[in-house]
Amino acid sequence: MSHIYVTRKIPEKGIALLTEAGHEVTVSEKDGVLTKEELITALQGRPYDAILCLLTDKIDGDVMDATDAKIFANYAVGYDNIDLNAAKERGVTVTNTPGVLTETVAEYAFSLMLAVAKRIPEADRFTRAGKYEGWAPELLLGSDLKGKTLGILGAGRIGFGVAEKAYRGLGMRIIYNDIKQNEFFDKDLNATYKEDIDELFAGADVISVHVPLLPATTHLVNGVRLAMMKKTAYLINTSRGPVVDEKALVEALKTNQIAGVGLDVYEDEPVLAEGLQDLENVTLTPHIASASVETRGKMSEIAAQNIIAFLTGDTPENVVS
Ligand code: DGY
Repeated sequence: MSHIYVTRKIPEKGIALLTEAGHEVTVSEKDGVLTKEELITALQGRPYDAILCLLTDKIDGDVMDATDAKIFANYAVGYDNIDLNAAKERGVTVTNTPGVLTETVAEYAFSLMLAVAKRIPEADRFTRAGKYEGWAPELLLGSDLKGKTLGILGAGRIGFGVAEKAYRGLGMRIIYNDIKQNEFFDKDLNATYKEDIDELFAGADVISVHVPLLPATTHLVNGVRLAMMKKTAYLINTSRGPVVDEKALVEALKTNQIAGVGLDVYEDEPVLAEGLQDLENVTLTPHIASASVETRGKMSEIAAQNIIAFLTGDTPENVVS
């Protein structure tokens, strides 16, 4: 029997898989994210064979050194919270939960785009505040999306899912940027590859961000690029907060350089950049793009399966290199 530490309560399905496989599971009892010190203390508390961690845990060399466990199974597709070099140096295996959340996040980014363009959260606030005094010809005018151009930044599976919905469902034109051209975008969605990222910023009516967080993608959306966007354009970010320079974004919104933004992720989560929450033309949600009952349950199962495979001596399906 192996002993597994889970850094925060997650959907029961994954825990059940681990216990059914004969392992003992300890779940952190803290109602929230463990600090680095708390995490280290917890890992030193007893010998663990595997750690199931979350994207809110910063897993660096110090944390890895606090345990003999040689697998950190991340309950997320993103793994920018884990120091992969430190893991490599220590022979630690890192896994993630790809695939399962693709459609859920794509649906969410698509919804955020519609919510922002149609000003739905703003209209909801307006109505609840008792400001609705009857139909008016120019009340809360939004934008139509049919025939407009959606720019996808990061042509992976989630980006494709959003583009497909926009192309087939709304009749939007798709342009995209990535380090290389993607034949599925080209053939299935009649999309246009923009090798020059600035052309995507200048040409899109909506930009949806789907790149992983890397040194090269940090502040990829910066003040200079925001200034290239159309004044009528919208920005949607469901990937990672630091991809967007949030201070520059607040400035661009205040000065009406762009029309609006939908954010599910933030540069310094859960803290928001100063001034962001005071703006009307922003829709802000708390990093819930993958938060469907089905997907969060499957993510816990996949993280558990990765651990079970590792402890059985097999290579887990989702090793991050
Ligand atoms: C992920 O899995 O990386 C998502 O951000 C979680 O919602």
